[in-house]
Amino acid sequence: MNIVDLVRMLAEPLDVAVVLTDIDLERPGPTVLYANPAFARLSGYGIAEVVGGSPRLLQGAGTNREATRHLPRMLRAEGRFLGCLQNYRKEGDAYLCELDVRPILGRDGSAQAFIAFEREVVRRRGRPAGAGTKRYRAAGNAVTPMLAGTIPVFA
Ligand SMILES: Cc1cc2nc3c(=O)[nH]c(=O)nc-3n(C[C@H](O)[C@H](O)[C@H](O)COP(=O)(O)O)c2cc1C
Repeated sequence: MNIVDLVRMLAEPLDVAVVLTDIDLERPGPTVLYANPAFARLSGYGIAEVVGGSPRLLQGAGTNREATRHLPRMLRAEGRFLGCLQNYRKEGDAYLCELDVRPILGRDGSAQAFIAFEREVVRRRGRPAGAGTKRYRAAGNAVTPMLAGTIPVFA
C-alpha cells in the first residue's frame, strides 16, 4: 500500500483536517497529494480542488510571510513545524489555523511525504488568569494540554 492510500485510510474519518504533501519544499512545491473531508469542511475547498496544487492557496492578504517562510525552514532544521498561520477559506474569510506538520519517514529514515494536522483556533473571550497562557482554544476539539499555551502564533 502506498503512503497516499495508507493516510487516506487513516485520515478519512478524522475530525482534524489532514493535508499530505510531497517532500519538495522549493517553490512551487510542496504539492498536495491528499486532503481529507475534514480539510474540505474547514477550508471550503473540494478535495479535488486542492490535490495537485499548493497549500499556498490557503494564503491571503493577511498572511504573515515571515511565518509561512518559517514553516519549510523548521521542517528542514527540526523536522517539525508547530504553529498558527492565518489561512483563508475558499469564500475568502480568514481563520487562525494551528498546524502540526511532520515528515512521514520511510524504512531508511528518509522523508517520504509531509503530513499536516490542521485545526481552526478561536480566541477566548476576555483575558485568561495566567498572563499569556491559554489565549486560544481549538474549535471543536480541545488543544491537547501538552500544547496549550506553547504554540507560537504568527497570524
Ligand atoms: C503538509 C503541509 C501543509 C501546509 N499547509 C499550509 C497551510 O495550511 N497554510 C499555509 O499558508 N501554508 C501551508 N504550507 C506551507 C506552504 O506550502 C509553503 O511551504 C510556504 O508558503 C513556504 O513557501 P514560500 O515561502 O515559497 O511561500 C504547508 C506546507 C506543508 C508541507
